[in-house]
Amino acid sequence: MGPLAFFLDLHPAVGDFHDDVIEGLSQEQKWISAKYFYDERGSELFRQITALPEYYPTRTEREILLKNAAEITAAPGPNAAVFEYGSGASDKIEWLLDGLDGPAAYVAMDISRDFLIDAASAIAEKFDLPVAAVCADFYGHVHIPEHILPEPGRWLGYFPGSTIGNMTPEGAARFLRRAGETLGPDAQFLLGVDLEKDTDILNAAYNDAAGVTAAFNLNVLARMKRELGAEIAMDDFEHDAFYNEEACRIEMHLRAKRRTTIALDGREFAFEAGETLHTENSHKYSINRLKALFEETPWRLETVWTDENQWFAACLLSNN
Ligand code: SAH
Ligand code: AVI
Repeated sequence: MGPLAFFLDLHPAVGDFHDDVIEGLSQEQKWISAKYFYDERGSELFRQITALPEYYPTRTEREILLKNAAEITAAPGPNAAVFEYGSGASDKIEWLLDGLDGPAAYVAMDISRDFLIDAASAIAEKFDLPVAAVCADFYGHVHIPEHILPEPGRWLGYFPGSTIGNMTPEGAARFLRRAGETLGPDAQFLLGVDLEKDTDILNAAYNDAAGVTAAFNLNVLARMKRELGAEIAMDDFEHDAFYNEEACRIEMHLRAKRRTTIALDGREFAFEAGETLHTENSHKYSINRLKALFEETPWRLETVWTDENQWFAACLLSNN
């Protein structure tokens, strides 16, 4: 129980947001990476999403992990250290640290700096083990700083919440290959993935009645105004989320209700009525497509746990 062992800030967002907005708004299909949702407000809105009745992934994953906790936590053996990607509120870690046999350390990594520090500090206060926070972009290479944490029995990568679904399948394979390099030989990886299911259930999960997902989506425009000084008539845009069956993914867009422009740095980006800014993909997998994905990586699938409806999967991978 104590303070953070270290905080490593790789300054993932500085400068990039501005350049990525200009580049994305200049494309035929305007787009912006979903990683820009997560400023302090976006992270808080996501936390609210996880409690919505329509948003089944969080509670379904929790049910799978808790039901199989004994088997999952036995797999890495004693003295494992956990490296959590996209740790967010760090609210899916306690069961794992509680169950592991003498965990050596916990490293939380996320792009959302302040949210990360608060969440990792709360874990450091609660658990008697070294806790570190790394603020970085998991689309790039991430190194675990050497000689700061005790040498673990093995590293256990942990990537819950189906955040991997926000990558293209090719991007997900690249991510898993990089994670293999970061975590080293003999590592294991516990991955949460949302599965294909009835389209109505999917559409409802991204179009909640309370409008929290809409606020989460629109927050990226508010962030462009706040941080970049962009001129945007917020009321000209609306949330649009739908399941694209061919691509097996939910797509989120911000649709212009009428002709409008976004002005940034003396440039004007015009939207026709109905034109969209594509803000997020959330891919849904079948077990077979997951197996094909893992084949593209050094990771071997050890075990898949799922719920009774087969809505969500927890996969244990191993790179030995
Ligand atoms: N793991 C939590 C949070 C999921 S939300 C859960 O399962 O509920 C997605 C998380 O990934 C957010 O905390 C967000 O800040 C983080 N994130 C999104 N893009 C990222 C990126 N490119 N690099 C690092 N973290 C990222
Ligand atoms: C973080 N990620 C897995 C969420 C998802 O479901 O794709 C983000 C989200 N977008 C809208 N609602 C939730």
